[in-house]
Amino acid sequence: MAFPATRMRRLRQTGLLRAMVRETELTPAHLVQPMFVQLGEDSRTPIEAMPGVERLSISNAVEEAGAVHRLGVPAVLLFGVPTEKDERASGAYDDEGVVALAVRAIKEAHPELVVITDVCLCAYTSHGHCGVVRTDGAVDNDVSLELLAKTAISHARAGADAVAPSDMMDGRVGALRAQLDAEDGKELPIVAYSAKFASAFYGPFREAAGSAPASGDRRTYQMDPANADEAVREALLDVDEGADVVMVKPALPYLDVIRRVKDATRVPVAAYNVSGEYAMVKAAAAAGYLEERATVLEGLTSIRRAGADVVITYHAKEAAQWLQ
Ligand code: PBG
Repeated sequence: MAFPATRMRRLRQTGLLRAMVRETELTPAHLVQPMFVQLGEDSRTPIEAMPGVERLSISNAVEEAGAVHRLGVPAVLLFGVPTEKDERASGAYDDEGVVALAVRAIKEAHPELVVITDVCLCAYTSHGHCGVVRTDGAVDNDVSLELLAKTAISHARAGADAVAPSDMMDGRVGALRAQLDAEDGKELPIVAYSAKFASAFYGPFREAAGSAPASGDRRTYQMDPANADEAVREALLDVDEGADVVMVKPALPYLDVIRRVKDATRVPVAAYNVSGEYAMVKAAAAAGYLEERATVLEGLTSIRRAGADVVITYHAKEAAQWLQ
C-alpha cells in the first residue's frame, strides 16, 4: 500500500508542483521595513542590541528606503527619534518634526513606496510614557487622545500613506478616524496596533527610540500576554472604530493570537516581528548557534502561515535579498 505522505514528498520534489502544494507564500511584497529616523546631517547611529539596524538621518533614510523598495519591499514604517522631549510630546505633532520631515523627503524621492508612520508619544515625552502623565502619575487617556490625533494629522499633511497608532490608549482608533475625517484625511487608512502585549521583547526598541519609561511600566495600557480572548475583543473593537488593518505584536510568541484575530475579523492582519525577536536571532547567529538565513525565513513563513497578511520585520531588507 502506498502512503499519502510518500506521494506528498514526491510532489514537493517535483519542480512546478512544489509551488502547487506549498500552502504559504513568503515574498518581499509581504514585508514592511521599520526605520528609525533622526535629525541632523548625514548620520548613522548603530543600535547595540540590534546589529544591522541604525538610526538614520533623513538623507540616509531616503537612500535606505530606496534600497529597500528596489528589493521589492512595498512599505516602510517610520519611527522618529527627536532631539528634544517634553511633558506634552510637542515634537510628535510638530509639522516640522522629524517624522513629518522624513515623510516628505521619502515620498518626494520614492513616490511609489508606501510610507506608514507610527503614531505614539513615548519617544517625545520626557517621562517616556505613550500618553500624557497627570500629576498623580496616571496616564491621562483623553488628553492623550487629542495629542495623538494631532500627531496623525501632522503625518497625514506630510504625505503619509497610512498611520499606525501604537499607544494603546482607549478609543484612539475612533478618535484618530474622526479627526482624520474632519481634516482632509478621509481616505487615509489606519493600521491599528490592536493586540499589543506588554512584552519583554520590546527591550532593544526602547534603546533604539530612546523611549523607555522613566518610571513605572506600560502594563496599565498594554495587554497581558496571558490573554488571547481579550486580544480578539480589542481587534474587533478597533475594526468597529475604523481600523483598516489590525496588528498583533509581538509575532512569534503570539502565533495563536494572529490566527484567532484573522479568523475573527477577516480584515487584513499585520504582525510585528519586534526588536527582541530580531535581537535573539542575530545574537544566536553571531554566536554560531543558529543558521541565520534559514531561521529568519522559517520564522517569517510561520508568521504568514499563522494568518498574517503583512509582516513588519527588521529582517525585511535581508530577507528580501534572500528571497530574490
Ligand atoms: C511605541 C512602540 C513600541 C514598539 C513599537 N511602537 C515600544 C513599546 O511599546 O515600548 C516596539 C517595537 C519593537 O520592539 O520592535 N509605543
